[in-house]
Order: sequence, then C-alpha cells, then structure tokens
Amino acid sequence: MKNISVIGAGTMGNGIAHAFAQNGFSVKLIDVNQAQLDKAIQTITKNLDRQVTKGTVTADEKNTALSNIKTVTELTEGVKKADLIVEAATENVELKLNIFRQLDIAAPANAILASNTSSISITKIAAVTQRPENVIGMHFMNPVPLMKLVEVINGYATKKEVTRAIVELSKTLNKVPCVVNDYPGFIANRILMPMINEAIYSLFEGIAGVEEIDTIMKLGMAHPMGPLQLADFIGLDVCLSILNVLHDGFGNPKYAPCPLLVNMVMAGKSGVKSGEGFYSYSGGSKELVVSAQFK
Ligand SMILES: NC(=O)c1ccc[n+]([C@@H]2O[C@H](COP(=O)([O-])OP(=O)(O)OC[C@H]3O[C@@H](n4cnc5c(N)ncnc54)[C@H](O)[C@@H]3O)[C@@H](O)[C@H]2O)c1
Repeated sequence: MKNISVIGAGTMGNGIAHAFAQNGFSVKLIDVNQAQLDKAIQTITKNLDRQVTKGTVTADEKNTALSNIKTVTELTEGVKKADLIVEAATENVELKLNIFRQLDIAAPANAILASNTSSISITKIAAVTQRPENVIGMHFMNPVPLMKLVEVINGYATKKEVTRAIVELSKTLNKVPCVVNDYPGFIANRILMPMINEAIYSLFEGIAGVEEIDTIMKLGMAHPMGPLQLADFIGLDVCLSILNVLHDGFGNPKYAPCPLLVNMVMAGKSGVKSGEGFYSYSGGSKELVVSAQFK
C-alpha cells in the first residue's frame, strides 16, 4: 500500500494523515470544508514542529511529511488512486453510510475501505457496499501521533487477508494493532464508557466530589487522567452517544447513561470544546478548575 486517502480533516483526520505522511505514504486528505483542510495542515505543521524541537523528527523529515499530503474537497477525485481509504468524518450513521456508498463507486475495486468510527457498526457500514469483505474498522486513538493503539475491527464479512493487511500496515506506522470483533463499543469503548458512566453516577449520587473521584482513579489505578476529566476531553456529547449505542445494542440496563450526563449535554455543557463540563476551561487557567456547578 502506498496511496492513502483520509476522509474528514477534523481532530482525528489530521492526526491520521500526519501518521501516514510521516511514515512515507502518499496521503490525500479530503474534507467538504476547505477551512477544515487549511486548519488541518496548520495543526500537522505545528505538531511536526513540536516533534522537531523534541528531536524525534528532523527538519528534512518534517518537510518530506508535509509534502506527502495533498488536500482535496472532491471525494471522487481524492480516492480514485487509493489503496486504502480511512474514513474519519463526523460520527453520524447516515453521513457515513452515504460516504461508503460513494466510495464503493469511486474507489478502485481492490481498495480497502476502513472507518475510524468510535461506535457505529462496521457490519452496517459494510452492508451498503458491494465489497463488505474489504471493509474494516481502523480505530485510532486521540491524539493519533502520540497514541500507540489501533483497534482493528472485523466486520461480519471482513476477509482474513484484509485484517492481516491492516495489522501489518498499522505496524509500519509504529502502532500496536489489536484485532477485535464488531459488537457495540468494540472493546475500547465497551470498557471505558461504563467506567466513565459509573464515575458520573458516583458524583450524581453524592458519594464523592469531582476532584476526589478523579484523584482516586489517577493515584489509585495509575490512570494518567481521571474519568471525569477524560470525559470532558472526549466530549460529554460523544460519551452520551456511545453509551446510547451500548444500551441500544445490548438492551442491558447496566449501560443506561447517568441522568446527570444527559442533563449536562442538554444544557450544552459538553466538556473542553464547550468551555465547561465537570471542569471549567473558560478562565484560561492552566490548572484544572472544577466547574462552579460541582463546587
Ligand atoms: N475525537 C476523538 O477522540 C475520536 C477518537 C476515536 C475515533 N473518533 C472517530 O473519528 C471520527 C471523526 O471524529 P473527529 O473527532 O475527528 O470529528 P471532527 O468533528 O473533529 O471532524 C469531522 C470532519 O469531517 C468532515 N466531514 C463531514 N462530512 C464530510 C463528508 N461528507 N466528506 C468529507 N468530510 C466530511 C467535517 O468537515 C470535519 O472536518 C468519528 O467517527 C469519531 O467517532 C474520534
């Protein structure tokens, strides 16, 4: 594989393009929004600059990586020579199904179609194409250039050769691939989200405060970040939507989202990106400040 197309130039798309470009692949970064493409190139440049400062990448390698990325707003144009397409567009079922219908027509017949979805069924996405055996989940973690894991998700029809190819490819990106099967939440979110939900329930029931819950999990379990801070970082709206996928998919009440999480999302408090969640990010402080609501 040499030519990689990445669809969606948001948080994940720019990181995925960065990882491939830095490892010598030729990348077409595709987004419907030109401003997002421009912003993605700025972010990749800034992140590569940081790597140069740290000494993990040379200035020449930075320039080569940047020259490996071309931006495109037209999907058909962007995927016509692709060996692999990694879709990292907005987490919305209908939007993704539409993209995969288009990819099935526009991508070369033997291209592998991968999705970076956090929670949508790979089997469902694959079923709208005429090549479900070539569709797979390639779930990178945020921030992509730093995080080692790629959760590789086999859809119901994914063929073994495709899984093997994606495992080998992930290794060439210096990542560690882990293969799992396609059930709600896969593995990462099936285990992470109930933990976050339980942390929110503990707060909701008044068992402990925000700082206590996060400190217990950080110092007691050696987690780099407490579950409430992590929820803010992921986005409370994203956490809610993944919990709903688990709840609907398994029909088990243990996955029911905590009413406090539902309320916070309805109130527009979705964490870092909205300026407030369990912590407040609006005062410009570098220290974590617990949101006034929970003091
Ligand atoms: N953010 C995370 O921490 C994280 C982690 C793992 C996986 N994911 C998954 O990665 C995917 C992307 O998430 P994100 O956080 O980068 O989202 P984002 O909102 O930052 O970016 C999405 C991008 O997709 C673009 N887009 C929308 N429709 C498009 C289309 N039809 N064609 C091309 N581009 C289109 C948008 O313009 C935007 O730039 C989602 O499926 C999400 O579940 C996110």
